[in-house]
Amino acid sequence: MYDIEKIRSDFPILARTFDGKPNVYLDTAASAQKPQVVIDTLVRVYSESYANVHRSAYALAEEMTANYEQAREIVRGFLNARSIKEIVFTRNATESINLVAATWAEKFLKEGDEILVSQAEHHANLVPWQMVALKKGCVLKVFKVGDDGSYLPEEFAKNLSEKTKLVAVSAMSNVLGTIFPVWEMAKAAHAVGAKILVDACQFAVHHKIDVQALDCDFLAFSGHKTYGPAGIGILYAKEQILRDMPPYQTGGDMVEKVTYQQTTFAEPPARFEAGTPSMVDAIGLGAALQYMQALGLENIMAHEKELCTYMFDETKKIEGFKHIGTAPTKGGVFSFAVGNIHPQDLAYVLSKEGVAIRVGHHCAEPIVERMGYTSVARASFGLYTNKADIDAFVAAVKKAQRFF
Ligand code: ALA
Repeated sequence: MYDIEKIRSDFPILARTFDGKPNVYLDTAASAQKPQVVIDTLVRVYSESYANVHRSAYALAEEMTANYEQAREIVRGFLNARSIKEIVFTRNATESINLVAATWAEKFLKEGDEILVSQAEHHANLVPWQMVALKKGCVLKVFKVGDDGSYLPEEFAKNLSEKTKLVAVSAMSNVLGTIFPVWEMAKAAHAVGAKILVDACQFAVHHKIDVQALDCDFLAFSGHKTYGPAGIGILYAKEQILRDMPPYQTGGDMVEKVTYQQTTFAEPPARFEAGTPSMVDAIGLGAALQYMQALGLENIMAHEKELCTYMFDETKKIEGFKHIGTAPTKGGVFSFAVGNIHPQDLAYVLSKEGVAIRVGHHCAEPIVERMGYTSVARASFGLYTNKADIDAFVAAVKKAQRFF
């Protein structure tokens, strides 16, 4: 049973109040709050086990290295990857995608090759490919999504061809909440000889991931969105692909042998982890993923599904409330507009009521414009969101309507 009140008590920040009003945190898509177990893990490691990793043989260093590599094993299990050699620790998903652009794309893409993205990409999965296209003479193609934000298989198919060398797609839009069938897209991409990179930043928060079933070539997600610390991200890639990739950054710990004149590089994943990594954050991420697994990804998904229905039902009661993104396959990310109220004004009134939402273009400006806006308000759910949060949101929106 999903004991939402017990779960909420695991997140100390949810007990905060603002002018006596409860903390209604509806911005998990931007960054998730942290359970006590993650906070305790960071404190414990810094207080009891801290040293650098992969470098020394004394007790603390060995313990720290073991904990860091154990975190890699937890990530492997979370993704159901075949091997820990397929798990690279980065700073965030943005760095994970930039790593692929700077290494794999740099080595394997050439003039005229096509990169295919959706209209709903976050800047982190769009701008790196624009840069690759500019530098290498590749063609960046963008397939359309529906007016309701849904995936249009014919639009994807129309843009995919033998020239496509990379399909780079978000599994869940951070603006529309649409869940894209990346497993189908992976099959289609492979059928034309293309690789597929999945931006799973939002998807990883709301859904179970199995990279073997998905058969994706690359997958990226961020620790801070999956209830872990900020400053840690994951790049998953198939082992052979990583082996064929040149280094990203160079420096300590990613080498095999260095002389004054030349260097040979370590095997993956070390080859892609130059310098001292965000090792405590990696261990904190391990604790966060174990927390999610203990709750059960299926249970988290079921809870969210119930909340999504409740959100749609309750917002129907608000005059002039418009959802932006109503695809049938949608998770707990709700962009919206309320009459002619400017999103910034809306956020201000909501904030006075203790309700935290995000406004703007959400680092995905093209899709916000494609939906007909320059700025939208967004409420997003986490595993700790409850119906009372939605009630408070609805009441605050109605209050804003009385002001404007
Ligand atoms: N990409 C994050 C968001 O959607 C920061 O808010």
